[in-house]
Parts: sequence; structure tokens; C-alpha cells
Amino acid sequence: MSAGLAGHRLSLALTVNGRAVRTQAEPRTHLADLLRDTLDLTGTHLGCEHGVCGACTLLLDGEPARACLTFAGACEGAAVTTIEGLDDDEIAGELRAAFNREHALQCGYCTPGMLIAARDLVLRLPEADERRIRAGLAGNLCRCTGYVGIVRAVRGVIAERRGRGIPALTHGSQTAPRGLGPVGARLGAAASGGTMPARPDPAATATRPALIAIPEGFRPAHTFEQAFAVAHPPEAVFALFGDVAAVAACLPGAELSGAPAPDQVEGALRVRIGPIAAAFRGRARIERDEAARAGRIRGAGSDAGGRSATEGEIAYWVEPGAHPGTARVVLAVGYTLKGPLAQFGRPGLVRDLAGRITAEFARNLEARLSGSAIPVGGADLNPLRLLLGLLLDPLRRRLAAWRARKT
Ligand code: FES
Ligand code: FES
Repeated sequence: MSAGLAGHRLSLALTVNGRAVRTQAEPRTHLADLLRDTLDLTGTHLGCEHGVCGACTLLLDGEPARACLTFAGACEGAAVTTIEGLDDDEIAGELRAAFNREHALQCGYCTPGMLIAARDLVLRLPEADERRIRAGLAGNLCRCTGYVGIVRAVRGVIAERRGRGIPALTHGSQTAPRGLGPVGARLGAAASGGTMPARPDPAATATRPALIAIPEGFRPAHTFEQAFAVAHPPEAVFALFGDVAAVAACLPGAELSGAPAPDQVEGALRVRIGPIAAAFRGRARIERDEAARAGRIRGAGSDAGGRSATEGEIAYWVEPGAHPGTARVVLAVGYTLKGPLAQFGRPGLVRDLAGRITAEFARNLEARLSGSAIPVGGADLNPLRLLLGLLLDPLRRRLAAWRARKT
């Protein structure tokens, strides 16, 4: 994150619907609240606020993203396009007409997010394949229509455009529906259909280390990226990442079995989601690329009864931060979860949970690098606190917004 801290608020500069915006937000403010409460862009709707319903879908650097799961503070320098910014967009216009024609909306609550997800499909799908359209829209829930009209509208627009000789955009092999993300893959201005201003993306313009990519052969069911800032130089942060015991001490829920070798580690990770708890025991391989300040931890594990199992990889990359003497850590996570825990592992929920764990990890890392003690309980994954956070945060945000409106 390259936003500067002003008291307890972050100063932000971003582009919203093609207009440069300077604003402030609390570190915990999500993008949807910023747009709705501060910028009066209420076309971005909020339903679940857990990444499940898709009502808050917008374009972040040209890619569909969940505004309810995106911290406003992480959008410094980004190009945000909401449904209001697509008034003059050709594809959105064709979709709106098709939605009207096919009765693809009733209450309209899901429609802004649905249109943005549909526009992405119109850009990418080579043909009007109903199965692929349904898969591509699976992350957007509609309580009214039964989806038939929506799918018919999207099919119609794709067929009509291909009939006019307008081809699908190709991004390498990424022509299959990919739901929502991962944002951060940064397909950039091309994916935006050329209507969104592109921003220089340090992650794309710098040579990204090969290690950061999930290798051939491992096909995780879900992938996402996280990034956090540390107020210490990149060399110091990367050196600490080489101390496996220190990293484990900062990671909530992790414990090592014996002394780790530099390239291999054995241990356990305690996880609990809702009523199901598991301690995954397993082994991971560690790789580091000193020159690129990158690394990869790849492992597999299962719980005691072997009922839930996971395989995953965390690739990391430490780069200079926004200010001299600071660092930015990028984490690319890929995982597959099987067994009873998988039913609670909806990608949006896992990503949100991972965001909270990452935030706790970053705090512990910061404390360790500063020579302070890790806060009591800081290295413990407190499932109750995490779950309460997931449930209470939307309520807190609504209360704060209500109070703000009253004053
Ligand atoms: Fe439901 Fe964001 S509000 S996914
Ligand atoms: Fe009502 Fe989709 S039209 S939720």
C-alpha cells in the first residue's frame, strides 16, 4: 500500500470513472463504502459484504472486483470504474438494452454488479456459450429473475457482436470464464476495452520474479493476492523471511515440529471456521531467490482424521515500499481445500479471512523487526475474534455510515 498515513486516516489519490480523486479513508474502510458514503456513487450496491453475492462488483484497473472485499487504502493510484462510469460504454449500453428486452431485471438490486460481470464476459468469451456464461456469472446472485433472462441477454450481445466481426479479447489462455479475479493479474487497459485510463503498475513494469508464479503442474482451486506495507527496509524484511522459526512465530495458528531446515519445514496450522476445527499437520518445501528477493513455500497437509486436506502454495516478493526505508510484501496464494472444511471455504470468505490473518501477520512482523515483543495473543489465530470480525464489521460500518448521515 502506498497511501500516506494522516493521523488514523489514509490519504488517497485514485481515478474514479476517469476523474482524479483525492480523499481520505480509515484503514478499514472498504472501497464500496468510500464510493457510496464519500463520493456519492451509490450505483455500487452492497448485499452480503462477504464477497458472496457480487452486488458490489466494479472494475479495478479494468478487472471485475468485489468492492466490499477491497480496502480503499489498497487502491492508491488505481483506476476504479463503477456502473456510473459505464454510461457511455458501448458494451454496457448494448447490455442495458438487452436486459430491458429480455426482462433480465426486476428489483434491479443485483443489476449494476451483474452488468459489470456480464460486460467482462462479452469482452472475453469467443462465442455465446450458455454453459460458460452461467459459469462466468456464478459469482453474481439474483433473487428475482431466475437468471433465464439475464443469460439470454448476455448470449444475445455476444452473438450479435461476434456476428459484427468483433472478436473476443484474448489474454493468452484466459478466454475461459474466471469468475471474479484474481484482481491483481492486471490485464490492464486491454481488458478495459480501452475505456479506462491505465496506470503504471509497479508489479507489472518491474520484472516480477519467476518464483512468484504458481508453477506448472500444481492447479490450485483458488488463487488470490495480498499485499502489505512494512516500515522497515526490504533487505531486513527479506532476511527475516529466511528465518523460518521467526516467520512461524508471527503467523497466527502456526507451530513448528522441531527445528526447521532451510529448505523444508514440518509443522501444524490450526484453523477453525464455524463449528469445524482442524489442525493441519504437514510438510512444506521452501525456496528462496536472494537476487529477486522472492520466495515460495509449497506444502500439503491433512487434519488428524484425514477428513480435511489442503494443498497450497504461498509465493512472496519483497519490494521497496512507497517511502524510503519501507517495504511492500506481495503474497500470491494458491490453495485447494478438500473435506468438511471445504464447504465453508467459499473463495470470498477465505480471502477475507486470509486478509485478516495477513494483517495480523504483518503486525507481528513489524513488532518483531522493531525488536518489540509480539502482542499477547498476536501469534494465535483467534477463530472467535476472526468470526466475530466477519459478522460485526458490516454492522459497525452501517452504524458509522448512519451516524455520519445524522451529523
Ligand atoms: Fe456481496 Fe460484495 S456485497 S459480494
Ligand atoms: Fe432483483 Fe436481481 S433483479 S436481485
